[in-house]
Amino acid sequence: MILSISAIDNEETLGELSEALQRLTWRDGRATAGATARSVKRNEQAVMTDAAGKALRERLTPIIADNPVLKAAARPRRFSPLMVSRTQDAGHYGAHVDNAMMGKGDQQMRTDLSFTLFLTDPETYEGGELVVHAAGMTQAIKGQAGELVLYPSASIHEVRPVTQGARIVCVGWIESLIRDPAQREMLFDLENLRVSLRASLSAGSPELLTLDKSIANLLRMWGEP
Ligand code: NI
Repeated sequence: MILSISAIDNEETLGELSEALQRLTWRDGRATAGATARSVKRNEQAVMTDAAGKALRERLTPIIADNPVLKAAARPRRFSPLMVSRTQDAGHYGAHVDNAMMGKGDQQMRTDLSFTLFLTDPETYEGGELVVHAAGMTQAIKGQAGELVLYPSASIHEVRPVTQGARIVCVGWIESLIRDPAQREMLFDLENLRVSLRASLSAGSPELLTLDKSIANLLRMWGEP
């Protein structure tokens, strides 16, 4: 499942983020790529350990981690530290797969889902589509600023060359409590059903209680905390 989520729809926040991006320091993206991705990665990565990088990470983390649609679709157990990348001057990220495991020691995690949060307006750059090849389908996505695209880490994906302007995105990975993508999708469908039924049924109605019970019991059956 590839899902587009409107993560930031507030112009003021987008404006503040856009100013914060100008304070970042950039370095060659190949330094943070896995061995196979390194040969196809042509972009820059923001330094996230200086004051500007830390401030931006602190600002973006709750926007992403507390998003209710993302939480329902991904059932996150753990997030990777956020990264911010910039692609310009014909830079691109050729077809690759993300590392299955990231981090070390206590921080080690499995990557189930990858996400890209677009931070620049699509009108300000040429190219730069995120292309995801999943389940025999290919989707090319160029999101609005503030739009987050969630896709399976298991997919082959790429970023097309940016021939004009600069594409800046925040990227990260999620380890899910629900390892199986099909089970995760069923839980997401049921969660969406629950949200729509809440509009017409009272909280204590037998239908909603049964649905609450089924969602909770499926989580018990499938969840790996
Ligand atoms: Ni990737």
